Amino acid sequence: MVEKEKTMIDHSFSSLECEMPVELIQSWVTPVPHFFVRNHLNQPSISPEGWCLTVAGEVENPLALNLSHLVGMTRHSITAVLECAGNGRAFYQPSTPGSPWARGAVGNAHFSGVRLRDILLRAGLKTKAMHVMFRGLDQASGQAPFIRSIPIEKALDEDTLVATHMNDAPLTAHHGFPARAIVPGWIGANWCKWLTEIRVLDKEFEGEFMSEAYRVPCQPVPPGTLASDVTTRALTALNTKSIIAGPAHGATVKTGAVRIHGAAWTSDAEITGVDISTDGGVTWSRAELASERARYAWRLWNYTWKATEPGDYIVMSRATDSRGRCQPAVATWNPGGYLYHAIDQIKIHVRTQAEGAS
Ligand code: MTE
Repeated sequence: MVEKEKTMIDHSFSSLECEMPVELIQSWVTPVPHFFVRNHLNQPSISPEGWCLTVAGEVENPLALNLSHLVGMTRHSITAVLECAGNGRAFYQPSTPGSPWARGAVGNAHFSGVRLRDILLRAGLKTKAMHVMFRGLDQASGQAPFIRSIPIEKALDEDTLVATHMNDAPLTAHHGFPARAIVPGWIGANWCKWLTEIRVLDKEFEGEFMSEAYRVPCQPVPPGTLASDVTTRALTALNTKSIIAGPAHGATVKTGAVRIHGAAWTSDAEITGVDISTDGGVTWSRAELASERARYAWRLWNYTWKATEPGDYIVMSRATDSRGRCQPAVATWNPGGYLYHAIDQIKIHVRTQAEGAS
């Protein structure tokens, strides 16, 4: 796993997929070596000199942009959480096909580049412009190219970017060098890497990664229902969610002050509270939210628990946002195992100060 630390959890099968152990969440911004990677196809190797981004379809003036064109346009930066729609799939029962991501297919980073809006306005949108399609340069023999589209309103949002930088350095090959889409607040699949084509369409793109993958039933279905048996819609926004980064699941801690901490995020709203339970959900106490915040970023939180009695404990975290959305006890099961956001929980053991450390 080039550039990625050995501590990452490797789910790679035919392509690179690695998850961040959540215990590595120690800072608001996730360092690139810890940032999860989700590749569907073979990662391309792109020379910046030969790279070109075309803009075509329902536009007045098709464009062909190289890196110096992009660098010459007005820059814009955001800090945003990037979460794979499949994050948490491992917790769904019954299990669903797909990579068994637990908690760490998520990270929070600074992204900078050019507003997609500025590129589209330079090309001149025709009245039929309804969706904006992204194509990546990655390929794999016998497989459909990675192509997705987003509605024109989201494409024109001032924070939707064609980014060239992540955490103030050029994107690495794993994260989409030389340019990728940033669609803040929406599932990671829309954040197309190794961008080579932007095409304005008069309707949602139809293709494997849009019409088959990354869809959920329009109405909740009984667990175990087949995807082929339901009417579905394309996934867009992320759910309101918190995760416990520490202590680690299964850890042993000493009686006294125990620091419980983690991250929480939502979409198109602010995290207003994270509640912690140390008695399996019977009683809840408010965690302290860290000061670093940004519209699309995650919020770190901390709670100090006075653990007086040795024993086994279930620790839970539950986020609430400014639109009143709260993490549910059970996530809505769906055939793709997407958007898992049930109250997070870990088991820990508390021992007396006198007992030996594990
Ligand atoms: N873009 C291309 N071209 N190919 C891909 O396989 N994976 C998508 C998205 N963009 C993908 C892609 C998915 S499913 C996710 S979750 C994010 O990239 C992951 O971004 P990261 O690998 O930079 O963390």
